[in-house]
Amino acid sequence: KALWLPIMVLWLLYHLQNCSATSYQSTFPSVFLFGTASSSYQYEGGYLDDGKGPSNWDVFTHLPGRIDDGSNADVTVDQYHCYLEDVDLMEDVKINSYRFSISWARILPKGRFGEVNWAGINFYNNLINALLLKGIQPFVTVSHFDYPQELEDRYGGWLSPQVQEDFQYFAEVCFRSFGDRVKYWVTFNEPNLWVPLSYRIGKYPPSRCSVPFGNCSEGDSEKEPFVAAHNIILSHAAAVHVYKTKYQKEQGGQIGFVLHCDWFEPFSNSTADKLVVERALSFTINWFLDPILYGKYPEEMVKELGTTLPRFSQKDRENVKNGLDFIGINHYASYYVQDCISSLCKPGEGGSRSEGSYSRTAQKNGVPMGELTQFEWLNVYPQGMEKMITYFKDKYNNTPIIITENGYGELEDPSKTREEYLNDVTRIKYMDGHLNNVLAAIRKGADVRGYFAWSLLDNFEWTYGLEVKFGLYHVDFATLKRTPKLSASWYKQFISKHKAHS
Ligand code: NOJ
Repeated sequence: KALWLPIMVLWLLYHLQNCSATSYQSTFPSVFLFGTASSSYQYEGGYLDDGKGPSNWDVFTHLPGRIDDGSNADVTVDQYHCYLEDVDLMEDVKINSYRFSISWARILPKGRFGEVNWAGINFYNNLINALLLKGIQPFVTVSHFDYPQELEDRYGGWLSPQVQEDFQYFAEVCFRSFGDRVKYWVTFNEPNLWVPLSYRIGKYPPSRCSVPFGNCSEGDSEKEPFVAAHNIILSHAAAVHVYKTKYQKEQGGQIGFVLHCDWFEPFSNSTADKLVVERALSFTINWFLDPILYGKYPEEMVKELGTTLPRFSQKDRENVKNGLDFIGINHYASYYVQDCISSLCKPGEGGSRSEGSYSRTAQKNGVPMGELTQFEWLNVYPQGMEKMITYFKDKYNNTPIIITENGYGELEDPSKTREEYLNDVTRIKYMDGHLNNVLAAIRKGADVRGYFAWSLLDNFEWTYGLEVKFGLYHVDFATLKRTPKLSASWYKQFISKHKAHS
């Protein structure tokens, strides 16, 4: 009998040890990126300074009627000139990483058809060095919506396969110039969002196929998004190939791809609505990630689109699936989706066959999913974050994930005082809910390595202009003065509480 006790104790110890070896993280991993995200066109200003060429967005925002409030980002928050002040703000918030993008037209004003603009290289060198001096990791997106107008004028931008060579060339200039200090690269930001907006809905440049600004023939909107996406996937592959074969080993960085990731739930209990969740995910997420990870388009798309979907040659197939070091998820909102084949959908986003024959809504029978906001695209349903991450973990074999964007936007309201903007408790609630759901996913075994809030500063929100505010800092666009909102100090506290383990 006397032997039983030590045996039991040993057995217990053995199992406890085993358990802890396989048990999941109870908190954020010790090396976790807590950051804020931005992009060149939305932040830099200095739109023609020091040799920068015009980008597609410079040209577009200068056309009448394109931007809701008539503004443009010629100046925006002027980070081109104020970057040192902004790096100080980042230090105040105690983020350890800053995600920004490189303005292609600042580095190569005429793409590969002209010279490198050394003033542009200097600007990013200065920004990167200033970040590193404060212990903040630069996290760089090579392409975030803006590119030299020259590429559009010469050969129609993303609709031409020639763009692949241009992108590879640009990406290599970035790896060569900054890769000694930049350890996180993203090739593209959210092509699954801007491709339909540019080539089907026409709200973004080059305004293909929209009313009232569209300039295309019937049928183009059914094909062009897939042609542009195909060129983007091959451009990504070309850049990753250069990085992996020439730079990665020596520089020791990682490279990924960022998608706009809405979460979907079935609108009803019907089998068709349950199945349509998969189709909606195929037409938004797997559209890009399946080729990049598996070398082919998702079955659902092939079935629906037939020959409209471009084909990968055997060589392309091998080239595209050359690996991603991480998947970047931009997650803001969740929707109910309804099948449009078996039921009559209200006309709306996603309704047509080339969009996947589904429609989406943030509420059913008058009951919202989470909380509704002023925007159809921003209902607050933090559980969507955990569900989205878990979906990626299961679908893509636990490829490392970085939440490259998440944040809360408010439309400017003339009746609101500045103090009311600064007291942004709704943003805090949104971020807290989403961060806790990131943590919940980590606890269940998801390999999430970072979270970036969109955004450090109020900035230029594409076709909404300067009127939609996402910042942890308020910006007075007349004086460029930055003032912290309550969310800035909240995020700082959250980071210090959760970084304790590093
Ligand atoms: C995603 C985009 O990457 C970013 O440019 C945009 O400002 C935010 N979402 C907010 O809409």
